[in-house]
Amino acid sequence: MTDLSHPIFARLYPRLDAGCAKAGGDACRAELLAGASGRVVEVGAGYGANFPHYPPEVTEVVAVEPEPRLRAKAAHAARSAPVPVTVRPGLAEDLDLDDASFDVAVASLVLCSVRDPIRALAELRRVLKPGGELRYYEHVRGDTPGKVRFQRYADLLWPFFAAGCHVTRPTGEWIAGSGFTVRGERRFEFPEPSRANPASPHVLGTAVRD
Ligand SMILES: C[S@@+](CC[C@H](N)C(=O)[O-])C[C@H]1O[C@@H](n2cnc3c(N)ncnc32)[C@H](O)[C@@H]1O
Repeated sequence: MTDLSHPIFARLYPRLDAGCAKAGGDACRAELLAGASGRVVEVGAGYGANFPHYPPEVTEVVAVEPEPRLRAKAAHAARSAPVPVTVRPGLAEDLDLDDASFDVAVASLVLCSVRDPIRALAELRRVLKPGGELRYYEHVRGDTPGKVRFQRYADLLWPFFAAGCHVTRPTGEWIAGSGFTVRGERRFEFPEPSRANPASPHVLGTAVRD
């Protein structure tokens, strides 16, 4: 079973993300993918917001998306992408892809939502070639006790309104502990430092498969 149906989220997310794009989200996506090359797997590709940012050195993108409505939008976006993109169903935790077959794996705003992020990271590691890159752009657990406390409360309800998304995950630390060496990473608040937004702490980086 590779479909995860979230019809309301699927309708709202592209509109919400369009606002984020203008506030700097597009620049983050461009930074995420700058310098990527070769075969790429993108998990939880959503409606394809990353597709316009793939550089010409990317020869192929296999985009996996389990939500059927978002997948249809991604397939539409793939038609005008600057590089060849194939969209298919699937879960990050159980990729129907060969071992060591990709140069780059991309996870953007998705490890907050997958049911088992550690297993997803193991799968991303499996399908990457040795020395391959994991490019990630995720919102994560905050840095201060006050923020983390607020996020814990928010996480009691947040997943119900945001299709299983959690705001307390220490994703950067999980990546570093999953057989990757972090080559570069920056932590920042997005769209702006905000006490009222439990999803404001972000991390954007590249880690290399050991
Ligand atoms: C917040 S959206 C982000 C979409 C896209 N990556 C982006 O950057 O705009 C989270 C995405 O994760 C997907 N997702 C949720 N659980 C997943 C899983 N187990 N495996 C792969 N994708 C998953 C959702 O369907 C949704 O498309």
